[in-house]
Amino acid sequence: MEQLRLGVNIDHVATVRNARGGAVPDPVRAAKLAEVAGADGITAHLREDRRHITDGDIDRLVEALTVPLNFEMAATDEMHAIALRHKPHAVCIVPEKREERTTEGGLDVARDENRLAHFIAPLRDAGCRVSIFIAADSSQIEAANRIGAEVVELHTGGYCDAHFDGDLDARDRELHAMRDMATMAHSLGLEVHAGHGLTFDTVAPVAQIPEMRELNIGHFLIGESIFTGLEGAIAEMRRIMDEARA
Ligand code: PXP
Repeated sequence: MEQLRLGVNIDHVATVRNARGGAVPDPVRAAKLAEVAGADGITAHLREDRRHITDGDIDRLVEALTVPLNFEMAATDEMHAIALRHKPHAVCIVPEKREERTTEGGLDVARDENRLAHFIAPLRDAGCRVSIFIAADSSQIEAANRIGAEVVELHTGGYCDAHFDGDLDARDRELHAMRDMATMAHSLGLEVHAGHGLTFDTVAPVAQIPEMRELNIGHFLIGESIFTGLEGAIAEMRRIMDEARA
């Protein structure tokens, strides 16, 4: 199987920084360290309320990174303009609600197909690889394909929650759906990524899905880095992913 790329999401370094309103810890420093530790890309989500990553962080990441930046954003006019200004390697379109603590579900592409098709066309023309964050659902995958996305990122939050709740039936149902939908998306010519809530304990079965090309992982790695350091946490995640695929 092809090696799986690891995208490290550094949003929560900024969350800790913003808790005090100063300049440390610096998410760009974390991103540079993640590169050294084996990250294949860096993911950052510029939320509408700027609760973690700021516009200045994005400016500095674009300047500093040598690995690709995966810019996560909601499908708003403001974010569209920012993405077109920076032209990051990848743009991942996610749903966003002000009141949510984190990205709670996938994007309902099927409901907003026309608008999203017009939204992503200029991003693709600018050379960005457009990814859509969706639930493992056939109608969403078909819609993502119709609007011209090149990548779908499957939401692993439900699978991870079921694992930690000890609901093994639900976990296995989620995993089966992810496997089936990865096969379907791949057969349509879409590249398949996954992420949200992944940990050392939950990553292997997702990494074993043959069509999977990239996992984006943040919160757990940043939390784990308190205990083992960021380089150690990333190296261990890499090791588990590689072993799962061997
Ligand atoms: N992928 C997407 C599209 C996300 O929105 C997030 C969370 O920002 C992640 C991956 C990473 O999730 P986590 O921080 O739970 O690992």
